[in-house]
Amino acid sequence: MTGTFEEFRAACKKRVDRSMKRCLDQADFPCPGLEEAIRYVLLGGGKRVRPLLVYAGCQALGGDFDDADAAACAVEFIHVYSLIHDDLPALDDDDLRRGRASLHKAFDEATAILAGDALQSMAFEILCRPDAGKGDRLRMAHELAQAAGPAGMVGGQVRDLAADGQEVSLDELETTHRLKTGALIRASVLLGALSSGNATAAQLEGLGRYADHIGLAFQIQDDILDEVSDTGTLGKPQGSDRDGDKATYVALLGLEPARKRAGELTAGAARALDEFGADADPLRHLAAYIVERIN
Ligand code: IPE
Ligand code: IPE
Ligand code: MG
Ligand code: MG
Ligand code: MG
Repeated sequence: MTGTFEEFRAACKKRVDRSMKRCLDQADFPCPGLEEAIRYVLLGGGKRVRPLLVYAGCQALGGDFDDADAAACAVEFIHVYSLIHDDLPALDDDDLRRGRASLHKAFDEATAILAGDALQSMAFEILCRPDAGKGDRLRMAHELAQAAGPAGMVGGQVRDLAADGQEVSLDELETTHRLKTGALIRASVLLGALSSGNATAAQLEGLGRYADHIGLAFQIQDDILDEVSDTGTLGKPQGSDRDGDKATYVALLGLEPARKRAGELTAGAARALDEFGADADPLRHLAAYIVERIN
């Protein structure tokens, strides 16, 4: 794909939205309430950063986007499930998401819990379809499961909750951020690369290093925006971290050191791509976008 990064972003967003809609149209929902909830939460906004990383990872290895659609849907399904549960009263207790009522507010808590459960299963069903594309499905499913589970997102969320109101060290906070947010971002890049069907171990290592940098930078920027942005721009409640006495980069380091750390990570991400050519430019642009974004 040629053109500007903005064009790449718009085209990938359109592409994954179309694929996700197709997945929902093909799904068997013997339960109309759940289908309505899933359509509400999945198709109602979001930057689609993880699908973008899938397509950019695929492009970096010269892959065909037709082979990456299933992975792009799968990572967004897992991400949306994590957001639904993150907003629940037992976790962050936030009533606004992507500029609309959080799912448990628009529907009810039971529906929100079950919609999250359903999205997680659907992610793996879509990823593992026999016609899903060229990549090694077992390897891709394994990467995604590890990233989503106790050694990834869920483990990070548990650590994040345990740190509420506590003093944590920078190392502890970094581990939490890498798990709760970084792991799925890493899996997105790697699944994109694997979907090309021709990733070498050295290429995967370089892309993994890139992804580890941007994954942490992504959550640092999320922490910064919670402090400095406004609810209208964010589409989620500004100040939620302060209200919840959350351990964040801003709370621990202050605003400027947090920004500096995010900048260093962006530079490290760029260095990790040194061995890649122009096909990796969308990944380079995404690294910058992640720390420059305003929502
Ligand atoms: C928010 O993710 C949750 C985090 C992991 C920080 P995004 O900022 O990607 O949220 P959407 O998908 O655009 O709504
Ligand atoms: C959530 O981090 C990470 C997830 C796994 C969803 P946050 O709690 O900071 O995400 P937001 O700010 O609510 O989107
Ligand atoms: Mg949270
Ligand atoms: Mg939250
Ligand atoms: Mg946040």
